[in-house]
Amino acid sequence: MKGIILAGGSGSRLYPLTMATSKQLLPVYNKPLIYYPLTTLMLAGIQDILIITTPEDQPGFQRLLKDGSQWGISLSYAVQPTPGGTVQAILIGEHFIDHGTVGLILGDNIFYGEGMPGILKDSSRLTTGGLILAYYVQHPERYGVVTFNDEEQVIDIEEKPEHPRSNWAMTGLFFYSKDVVEIAKTVRPSPRGELEITDVNKHYMRQGALKLRLLGRGNAWFDTGTHESLLEAANYVAAVERRQGLMIACPEEIAYSMGYIDAEQMQRLTENYRKNSYGSYLQRQLLTKKL
Ligand code: TTP
Repeated sequence: MKGIILAGGSGSRLYPLTMATSKQLLPVYNKPLIYYPLTTLMLAGIQDILIITTPEDQPGFQRLLKDGSQWGISLSYAVQPTPGGTVQAILIGEHFIDHGTVGLILGDNIFYGEGMPGILKDSSRLTTGGLILAYYVQHPERYGVVTFNDEEQVIDIEEKPEHPRSNWAMTGLFFYSKDVVEIAKTVRPSPRGELEITDVNKHYMRQGALKLRLLGRGNAWFDTGTHESLLEAANYVAAVERRQGLMIACPEEIAYSMGYIDAEQMQRLTENYRKNSYGSYLQRQLLTKKL
């Protein structure tokens, strides 16, 4: 399975923070936001990833993430000239997807929790239809809301409804089979002028081919589109990391633990951070693994 990170968008709700830089390059405590969705895909076992950005922000992402070989993965880049909606990722990535299966993640989504690596690996084994993940929230009216029956079959998805029929929000992580490009081509702009991923999911839903995975309360899901949610996510990461001394979304550590890189490569990576706590953390992971 290949992966796509959608890291374009205008980020207008975060102005003035995002007037001169991409939302996905902003910090969430001690790492750039994009590290979080990137490591989510890495944990799913996905090693070939396309990063879609605005034309002006692409050089920043390339400086930060390079071609991915330092982490044993392959990163390529494409631009989205204007933020025309999430479905554009699939259309822009048509040749990259190349009739295979794909995991698509919104660049401002953060997932964390005990069961996540297993859920991710499982989800990446999808061969037919689509798969969405939903999370129980207090304010579903801010999200795409998923309604489902007793068999957990999706019966409706509504974008930001005034009167939500459930508390389950559709997260920004989707897994699709090889027919997704053809489905994406049939999507027409919504009233707000965007090609909405909800329409792709509804297409699968109507065919009875949309699987649903509910993320239980032992998991955390944040989108970081507003000042409050960005700060909340940073506070959460800081609290967990400081309490446990373990990092959330450290690509070097995940690459090493997934076997994408060996100890020698990990050692080389620590040298970029010789003078700070990030480097000492990497060094510690190396020693722990050796024991
Ligand atoms: P949104 O939060 O819906 O949009 P945005 O990032 O442009 O922010 P705002 O609403 O404040 O203007 O986007 C969710 C994610 O999808 C985010 O990581 C950016 C990405 N995205 C794109 O890459 N291209 C797009 O056309 C859109 C709409 C979003």
